[in-house]
Amino acid sequence: MVLGIETSCDETSAAVIEKETGNPFVKLLSHSTASSMAQHAETGGVIPEIAARNQIQYIIPIINQALKEAQLTRAIDAIAVTIGPGLIGSLLVGVETAKTLAFVWNKPIVPVNHLIGHIYANWIEGNQTKSILFPALALIVSGGHTDLVLMKSHKHIQWLGGTKDDASGEAIDKIGRRINFPYPAGPAFEKAAAKGNPQAYHFPRPIMHDNAFDFSFSGLKTAALREIYKHKTLDDQTRANIARGVQDAIIDVLVYKTCNAAEKHQVTSILLSGGVAANQMLRDVLQKEIKKRELSVQFFAPEKFLCTDNAAMIAAAGYFNNKPIPWKKVSADSELYFEGKNASPQAARMALNIIRKINEPETTHF
Ligand code: KG4
Ligand code: ZN
Repeated sequence: MVLGIETSCDETSAAVIEKETGNPFVKLLSHSTASSMAQHAETGGVIPEIAARNQIQYIIPIINQALKEAQLTRAIDAIAVTIGPGLIGSLLVGVETAKTLAFVWNKPIVPVNHLIGHIYANWIEGNQTKSILFPALALIVSGGHTDLVLMKSHKHIQWLGGTKDDASGEAIDKIGRRINFPYPAGPAFEKAAAKGNPQAYHFPRPIMHDNAFDFSFSGLKTAALREIYKHKTLDDQTRANIARGVQDAIIDVLVYKTCNAAEKHQVTSILLSGGVAANQMLRDVLQKEIKKRELSVQFFAPEKFLCTDNAAMIAAAGYFNNKPIPWKKVSADSELYFEGKNASPQAARMALNIIRKINEPETTHF
């Protein structure tokens, strides 16, 4: 039984999961999340200082609530906490709270990379009908990241590629902001796109047809913004058409590259994850393409409420990568990326080393 704590961005989240013998998935016993998003909506983005100050207020009540709702009959076995990447002030709140609890309760603490955490939302019991088999390919699509990751096992994780500039969610949020969708724009974007005419715009699909597994969305963003600036005012149908054009372009690239990677690495499972994975059209188009290419893979996507940031996925990741380290050695690392904005093979290698160190913490990184 693992208590998960997640505070990498504006959310303050705690959850308790339980793993039963014989069940390949973990059971979510409780899940409690507070968000300061309403306070950031006006500025169209998260203000780190405000997020962290709110998190200090929320963290203990949220953990208490998660523990209470789990109706525990015995003590938890471990604490899993997000150590990065994320906003440093926010990460510190979760990490220092987790360390304090680990010390007071004398429980092991497992540091979790937020991005790996997103993947593990797929291991939370929902309506899956099959077990997740390795090798698995994970597509992580969130506000800050777009990555393709090959998992040969829980312990063997290889980064295949990621965005060279904007993340897919970031492009959606930035374009959405210019057409007056509330931040984060994803849900409004999806709703508008459903009413949009797919023929109205054909936006660029940058580096779609190269052989690498990298992405680039800034050109698409610029093209969409240029189109928006051509209009003095935007009616609802034009907004919907732009949303549809952008969504189609993003989905085309994501699906094409994911299926290419699945073919190349002959994976048995494809795991969708991150906030953008809540997009139904992305799920549908990916499933259709898997069928069309006759890939023999099982497709998994977490329940929608587990796609955006939450502590349940952190608890699940903590369970499957159960290598606790002494609480004194746990520290927040806001730069714990697979790769940064200036993606390079070197950055990727560095990121991979960090992941390996998380999986094998005795290697003294902490
Ligand atoms: O994973 P997440 O909650 O936070 C990060 O770790 O970044 O992802 C948030 C991102 C935002 O960019 C948001 O606009 C996007 O996920 N998002 C969506 C949808 N719901 C959230 N994008 C497309 N369609 C959605 N339904
Ligand atoms: Zn996230």
